[in-house]
Amino acid sequence: MTSAITIPDAAPGARILAFGDYRPARIVTNDELAETVDTNDEWIRSRVGIAERRIAGDDEGIVELGVHAAGKALANSGLAPSDIDLVILATCSAETPMPGHAAQVAHRLGIEAPGAFDLNAACAGFCYALGTASAAVRAGSARNVLVIGSEKMSQWVDWTDRSTCIIFADGAGAAVVTASETPGIGPVVWGSAGDKYDKIIIDDRNSFIRQEGQAVFRWATSAIAPVALQACERAGVRPEELAAVVPHQANLRIIEAIARKVKASNAIVADDIVQSGNTSGASIPLALSRMIERGDVPSGAPALLVGFGAGLSYAAQVIQIP
Ligand code: UT7
Repeated sequence: MTSAITIPDAAPGARILAFGDYRPARIVTNDELAETVDTNDEWIRSRVGIAERRIAGDDEGIVELGVHAAGKALANSGLAPSDIDLVILATCSAETPMPGHAAQVAHRLGIEAPGAFDLNAACAGFCYALGTASAAVRAGSARNVLVIGSEKMSQWVDWTDRSTCIIFADGAGAAVVTASETPGIGPVVWGSAGDKYDKIIIDDRNSFIRQEGQAVFRWATSAIAPVALQACERAGVRPEELAAVVPHQANLRIIEAIARKVKASNAIVADDIVQSGNTSGASIPLALSRMIERGDVPSGAPALLVGFGAGLSYAAQVIQIP
């Protein structure tokens, strides 16, 4: 005998209620780095676009950073901790492989017994987590999801290697996703290029992050704009309708190249990298949260998110700004 499976809590759509962000207090300027490695402010600004970055303290790990950002997102959302039934934390810079960090963040925020897991898609992690959260809500597996990108890249950086230490930084961003009658999160377009797995890599637990910068640059400036355009097409949003384009904050030149190709003529393009550096899976929510807080982008308008990095992996979706 067979019986049909029902999905009682399935929702027609999911949308973002609020964002939150957290940047560690310590600001490290280019001039400060130039005191210890052979670099200079002019090179870093012109090649990468970074003026300064934030570096977490010894007492601030993935959990701590995530608690700050997710706590702010939760407060901004107006929901109570008890409303959250799933927590997804994207990170690629965890200090330990297990346990995952999502459950600890939930516990610290007073969220009791939610589904909780970490997700590693490196710099594309937040877009993967958001796509997963949206799918969980629409499948009836969750009503309200906390999506977090939390990174402490500084602990995987060789501070004597000028090719990486000027780029990576620490921080966390978060979003609260909820069930909705109308969709506020478009279909995620995601993919990977595993043949290029060694282009950005931490070889083992005793190693630091290393990347083939030029190869990644070429890939990011050629392969990612089509993914972003596909996300617009799948969401039914024309590029000129976008109010914001928020690429992963890898390099200002990459961000500008993607934005040019997307031709979002009316959009503000996120440039949080200038102040926050490259925070991998945290960079997109960090950037968008700040844009919203400053009033740079109108509530209800569409924004394009596009993440890309180690894997190589990438993901993009159009969202409605909360
Ligand atoms: O978020 C993960 C995804 N990652 C990315 O998207 C990274 C993509 N790649 C990039 O953003 C760029 O390739 C970098 C920022 C990593 C490097 O910029 P570049 O313009 O590709 O520089 P380069 O590696 O070709 O190096 C040019 C020169 C070299 O010197 P020579 O050989 O021309 O004499 C480097 O040794 O610049 C030198 N250099 C530096 N000089 C001053 C490399 N790093 C530095 C530095 N300061 N920090």
